[in-house]
Amino acid sequence: MSIEDLKKLPLDELSAASVSYLDSGEKADPQSAVFLCQAIAGMGIGWTSPNPCVGSVICSNDGEVLGYGWHRRHGEAHAEKNAIENASTKGNKAKLSGATIYVSLEPCNHQGSQPPCCSLIVEAGIKRVVYVWPDPNRQITENGKPTEFLAAQSVDASMAEPGLRLQLPWLDPFIKSFSLEQRPYICLKAAVDPRFCMGSSTGEPTKITGARSQRFGHFLRQCFDGILVGRKTLLQDRPQLSVRTLENKNLEKRDPAVFVAGSSWCDKSILALNKLASIKSRKVIASCLNKDLLSIDGHGSLIDWISGDSPEELIPLLLKAGKEQGMQSILVEGGSSVQKSMYALGVVDRLFLMTSRRKQAVERPTFFPIKDHKAAKGLQLRALTGFDQELVSDFH
Ligand SMILES: NC(=O)c1ccc[n+]([C@@H]2O[C@H](COP(=O)([O-])OP(=O)(O)OC[C@H]3O[C@@H](n4cnc5c(N)ncnc54)[C@H](OP(=O)(O)O)[C@@H]3O)[C@@H](O)[C@H]2O)c1
Repeated sequence: MSIEDLKKLPLDELSAASVSYLDSGEKADPQSAVFLCQAIAGMGIGWTSPNPCVGSVICSNDGEVLGYGWHRRHGEAHAEKNAIENASTKGNKAKLSGATIYVSLEPCNHQGSQPPCCSLIVEAGIKRVVYVWPDPNRQITENGKPTEFLAAQSVDASMAEPGLRLQLPWLDPFIKSFSLEQRPYICLKAAVDPRFCMGSSTGEPTKITGARSQRFGHFLRQCFDGILVGRKTLLQDRPQLSVRTLENKNLEKRDPAVFVAGSSWCDKSILALNKLASIKSRKVIASCLNKDLLSIDGHGSLIDWISGDSPEELIPLLLKAGKEQGMQSILVEGGSSVQKSMYALGVVDRLFLMTSRRKQAVERPTFFPIKDHKAAKGLQLRALTGFDQELVSDFH
């Protein structure tokens, strides 16, 4: 598969296919290496937060791929260390002297749970660093800025052309969430039929998309720290909100935290909440207006309740709670009332719309007017992927 073919893949196939490319013995020119390090960063989705997903590729001057790696899990080795070790395992240690390391994020230069990557790069004899995104969480210690430290050690460090940056759902949340003070990065996901309808008018549970889109939806869940739904979706659909199937078989599944927006709770909906919370002891955070719920014994005891004085406050309070608990990203799965509220609050950073090619038994329209399928409420269509039964539009 060529780099051009990789660029056409659905996002949930990109990371594993990029690893296969790196194992194939094909060369990588500088632009391809910048692409590949961002693509393989997605091998860590679900496990690195609150650290970012990071990928790294090391190439010789003539484009031979000497090693690659990614950050696998919070608290474990950074991508650069894994790439250097991978090069050694492949017998390429001697070739590192004079090589270039490509990293999706500026290398760190401070001692945390892991040694500073800048020092590891210098020790390995690597002569050039190309990073894609500046670190929004850069920590300056007595070692100084990463680029200055590297320059002092005769390592040339530069940022890749901004035009080569990819807006990937495993890179965007970390990069952008530092500039969002009160909330995590928000992505909406909705399934619609060709008339842009997304639910039944009777409240019957509906299934609009097929198995491939469902896997894509689970991949998105794996990318995000939390999932937010409305109280009525919880009650009507009884969704598991879990990651059950993934295209990438090498990824270990993990279920994100659940947020439920609501104000008026009845026993039935509290029981549905409790069921979610009891599955694998998931974190479940729900909003309510009735402050009595906060101290209810038995009912809702597994739930973190967030309460406010008016309905308008509740979703911002839920998002703030997510931010305070270190969550960088939330996937909003609806229904339409909750999605409308998110748009009204002006907090939508991205939208994945899965459009079934076939008319479905759903009548409730989505809330967002999609003009010629190219723009949705200020977000522009950036990519379109075709599955057998659906189209996936990526707006941001
Ligand atoms: N096709 C899809 O992708 C998709 C995805 C999800 C759901 N659905 C369908 O959508 C239907 C449900 O949609 P829906 O619009 O009726 O309900 P919903 O959005 O799931 O839930 C509505 C409830 O959310 C709460 N809510 C909404 N905005 C709020 C705000 N600003 N602050 C606090 N709470 C807020 C309110 O709860 P209170 O009443 O307690 O105040 C409201 O009644 C279901 O039939 C489901 O099958 C489709």
